[in-house]
Amino acid sequence: MAAAGRSGGLLKFMTCGSVDDGKSTLIGRLLFEQNLIMDDQLKAVERDSKRHGTTGGVDLALVMDGLSAEREQGITIDVAYRYFSTPARKFVVADAPGHEQYTRNMATAASVSDVAVLLVDARKGLLAQTRRHSIISALFGIRHVVVAVNKMDLMDYSEDIFAAIKADYADFSRELSFSTITTLPISARDGDNVTTKSPQFGWYDGPTLLGHLETLDVTSDTVSKPFRMAVQWVNRPNADFRGFAGTLASGHVRPGDRITVAGSGKSSSVARIVTMNGDLDVAEAGSSVTLTLADEIDISRGDILAPETARPDVADQFAVNLLWLGDEPMYPGRAYIMKIGTKTVRATVTTLKHRVDIDTLGEEAAKELELNQIGVANISLGEAIAFDPFKTNRETGAFILIDRYSNATVAAGTIEFALRRAKNLAWQALDIDKAARGEQLGQKPAVIWMTGLSGSGKSTIANLVEKRLFALGRATYVLDGDNVRHGLNRDLGFTDADRVENIRRVGEVARLFVDAGMMVIVSFISPFRSERRMARDLVEDGEFLEVHIDAPIKVCAARDPKGLYARAAAGEIANFTGISSPYEAPKSPDLHIDTTSLSPQQAAERVVQMLTERKIIN
Ligand code: ADX
Repeated sequence: MAAAGRSGGLLKFMTCGSVDDGKSTLIGRLLFEQNLIMDDQLKAVERDSKRHGTTGGVDLALVMDGLSAEREQGITIDVAYRYFSTPARKFVVADAPGHEQYTRNMATAASVSDVAVLLVDARKGLLAQTRRHSIISALFGIRHVVVAVNKMDLMDYSEDIFAAIKADYADFSRELSFSTITTLPISARDGDNVTTKSPQFGWYDGPTLLGHLETLDVTSDTVSKPFRMAVQWVNRPNADFRGFAGTLASGHVRPGDRITVAGSGKSSSVARIVTMNGDLDVAEAGSSVTLTLADEIDISRGDILAPETARPDVADQFAVNLLWLGDEPMYPGRAYIMKIGTKTVRATVTTLKHRVDIDTLGEEAAKELELNQIGVANISLGEAIAFDPFKTNRETGAFILIDRYSNATVAAGTIEFALRRAKNLAWQALDIDKAARGEQLGQKPAVIWMTGLSGSGKSTIANLVEKRLFALGRATYVLDGDNVRHGLNRDLGFTDADRVENIRRVGEVARLFVDAGMMVIVSFISPFRSERRMARDLVEDGEFLEVHIDAPIKVCAARDPKGLYARAAAGEIANFTGISSPYEAPKSPDLHIDTTSLSPQQAAERVVQMLTERKIIN
């Protein structure tokens, strides 16, 4: 993200509103009145207005709606950026569509803008969309809001209506802590109070929309904040040169400044600021540079450089705000990849504290977050990272979550604060370790993870495998879904969210068994790839062996050892795996067992054979 604008300098604003609030018309009007629309473009708009226009005269909305496909649908998709300037200032305007399904675009636009211009239709007042857009704006660091009450011409330029909307918004936005909120009346269609004062608003003595945007002081914040640069790559063309390339997220830096690597605490001073166009005396937020240092210190991609005297915090557990963007819901316990700055780490939402009701900003109890929902959660990372709370620095306090399988962005989030507790909770190092325990038991510890549909034969085979290993003198244990669900996981049912937590806990228990030196056989449906992968990641390479106990659902249903398929088919059991709840078969298990062609004894034999091949047993 580039540097934010400064008074007199560049101002980045976004426009938000519902479908018919007049966003596109407003921007078209701004450009038109500044003579910023090319003649040929204007001709095209005049021509198109006759065909697609919605306002009668020349429809200035068509200036903004560049793509003909969008025009056909009558809606704007994606984020459109427009650059324009007046004698007073340069502007970039991001126009994000208002529909709920485009929340992601709105978040993108918000994360790079200084100001949000919220259009409100004077006839309708505040809508759910207005509230949603305000919350997203606040969440993504917008500090200045302009509420443009549009279509005042249709309400006889009524001062009372304007005042009521202004009061409503003030009331609603109190908790969003914007720095400035400016409410002004306009008519985008007729140009009242957009760039010039309108006699229609005799009662109004505030600025015009453009006047306000031209003078609004957003002196950034970004440049005046402490220096931060995430290292994008280490540039080492030869033995004599070692530079750290990246974009300054905030602040500025000069040769001679003392800097520290936030994570390791190692310090040095800046020797040179190298760019394509020669060395600089100073670099500011937004510039991409390569720094060389006076000393050889360990720095790699993802590290954050900061002043020695103003370092970011380092932690691995946080309270965060999340905007969920994934098609699949967010489940506490599931592992995702967090991308923050140039760094990627494993991240798990440990608890969803509450969901945010966008109408009231109230807190709702929830177990999952669905597409476009906003929640407050605790998150735990695979390793500690350097960060600033989002309120102090929106560059180093914002992140995205990525799904490990689809690589899709599933959430955008901001860090509220670190959970101190996490920092103080060290893993207790014990003198007797896993290797010592395993050696005394004369074995290599391992997890033999059996996954498959109910009735596929997991429990039967697990039982036989344990008998064989036991006969070989191994120390073993079986963790079976039905059994563990009677105790440790008694509180869990069969919703997706509960299954995620079920497997997370069993994965942790299996890890403890491995640490105890045991060979643990896990027999759980474990329907999701993500959680099986997570269980694998909890132990060392080679210690986790995934066995897919496979049989077609028809066969499992015919076997129906517990009579559950019959009950599920009769509608008596909800969320039944394979029927009304998904099963994600392993793509490349360590061992695949087809129980329609192998007897349970043969299957157990295969498992033991694999353990021999993998040198877990000899
Ligand atoms: S998992 O999906 O969370 O891994 P787990 O292996 O613990 O499931 O539990 C599955 C066992 O619970 C099944 O073998 C079956 O006996 C029982 N069960 C009860 N209801 C369901 C259901 N809706 N779906 C699957 N199994 C169920």
